[in-house]
Order: sequence, then C-alpha cells, then structure tokens
Amino acid sequence: MSFRARHLLGIEHLSPSDITTILDLADKYVDLNRRTVKQSDVLAGLTQINMFFENSTRTQASFELAGKRLGADVMNMAVGASSVKKGETLIDTALTLNAMHPDLLVVRHPSSGAVNLLADKVNCAVLNAGDGRHEHPTQALLDALTIRRAKGRIQRLTVAICGDIAHSRVARSNLILLNKMENRIRLIAPPTLMPAGVGDFGCELFDDMRAGLEGADVVMMLRLQRERMDGGFIPSEREYYHRFGLDAEKLSHAKPDAIVMHPGPMNRGVEIDGDLADDINRSVIQEQVEMGVAVRMACMDLLARNLRTERGAKALAAAGGVMV
Ligand code: NCD
Repeated sequence: MSFRARHLLGIEHLSPSDITTILDLADKYVDLNRRTVKQSDVLAGLTQINMFFENSTRTQASFELAGKRLGADVMNMAVGASSVKKGETLIDTALTLNAMHPDLLVVRHPSSGAVNLLADKVNCAVLNAGDGRHEHPTQALLDALTIRRAKGRIQRLTVAICGDIAHSRVARSNLILLNKMENRIRLIAPPTLMPAGVGDFGCELFDDMRAGLEGADVVMMLRLQRERMDGGFIPSEREYYHRFGLDAEKLSHAKPDAIVMHPGPMNRGVEIDGDLADDINRSVIQEQVEMGVAVRMACMDLLARNLRTERGAKALAAAGGVMV
C-alpha cells in the first residue's frame, strides 16, 4: 500500500499510486455509506478537530460526518467566535489546540500557505480543507473519484475546467491531479480570470466556451469567487453568463456523454443553467457531494494508520527497542 505521509496538505505531494490508494479505499467507504448502519471504528479513540477560519457549510459537514462514521470524537471549533477575534495569532491557536492532543486537525484558512505553516507546529495529522487560492486536496480527490466512477477511468480523458480559474484552489488542485494522472486539460476563462503562467502546466487555454468544450469528456464548472476579487474582473453577471455560463447549447459541443461537475456552492444563472445542474442524465453534482464524505473517510483512515505507525515506532525507540 502506498501513501505514507503525515499530513494531507495538497495534491502536489501525492504520487499517482498514492492517489489510486486513496480512491480505492474511498470506493469501499461509498459502499459503507450506502448501508443502513454506517458505522466503523477505525478512528475510535482518536480526536478530530475541525478548524474553519473561513465560512463553509458543505465541506465542514462532510468532514464532520466522515469522522463520526469512523468513530472519532469530533469537535468543531467555531473559529469566528474564538480568540482569533481577540487578536491571537494562527500559531498561538495551533499551539493551544496541540496541547489538547488532537490526532487529526482539519483546517480551512483564507490565506494560501497558512495550513502548511500550522502543520509544522503540531504533533498530529493535518488535513487541508482549502487554503486561499492554493490547494483543496480532498475536493480534487472527490472529483477524481466521481469521474472514475462515471467514466470507468481517471486517465486519458479530456477535462475542461471553466470559469474563475485565477481565484480557485479547486482548479489548482484538480489541475495538478489530472496532470499527474495523464489527462488532457483545457482551461476556459475570460483573460481576466486566467492566472498568469498557467500555460506551464501543459494545458490548453481558451477564452471561448464552444471551442474549449469541443470533444470534452468532463466539464467542470467553477464559482465566481467574488470574495477573492479586488476589482472589476467581469463586466456583469449577465454578460458573464452569456459568454461563460454553461447551458445545454454550449454543452452540446462536448461529447454526447460528457458529465457536468460543480464543487458548490453554485450560482444558478451565473456560471451554470439551473435546469442543467439538476439534469440527472448529465450532472453529477450530487454524486460529488456523496463522494466527498467517502474520500474524506479514506484520507482520515490512511492518515490515522500512518500516525499510529509513527507513534508505535517512537514508543518502541523510547523503550530502547529498534526503530524501523
Ligand atoms: C469550494 C471552495 O471552498 O474552495 N467549495 C467547497 O469546498 N465546498 C469552491 C468554492 O467555494 O467555490
């Protein structure tokens, strides 16, 4: 079995075989989650703390459910209401939490790199639940699982990622993952929302939806990240929808069996037509949510195994045994 890391901070650090290990285990958790009794004890005795420095409903709920189904003691820290408001630094918050001996720390933060910084200061496993524009690894993994289950593979597909790429950690993590798994990637965005230097990733760039969607197997839509924009990136939402919003006509340029994805929360009538988002023949948006819980269970299960191995080796060394 692959995947020996202490933390899950980004897709950047994962090998293709790590990704396959996580997806294979997540498939098993999809089965567990579809049973009436959805209980496992792989995290029994462990404490999971969810620290969300940025508002989130679905990702936090997904991590909470994942931890509970695996038998962990789960605590949600309402960071907005905590000492952070009183001026405490991120590191002080981390050290305070660390002193409570958590085993898994799930962190979302508005600044890119903040989760990596925090991971250096604590003794537990850290999972990045999204940091600024940097990475959102569990989102890319749940997208990969959704694609693999719909298309039967996660290689040699043409994937179009459309919309606000410049501000999106989801796009960045997906780009890295899909590249590692040898897919053909198209990025479609207005020039103002296409990040500089993205061509170096070896993907094709488009500012026209119809041309970019031609022959795509997967169409991944992104939300306009208004909270990360500090100026006029688009003329108006109406104009944006006209040129870049996904509707049935634009989708007809992709393959007839192309699937439509969106990480949520989605703005109907801005980046995607509401009826298309609800079309169960094309849209896998609900499956993405389902896969999210299973992928997070798999990630926490694997990190907990690594943590136990590491602690076992340390305890053995402290007792005068041989460390392997
Ligand atoms: C994404 C995020 O937070 O980066 N959403 C999510 O994880 N549910 C995408 C987004 O906010 O648009």
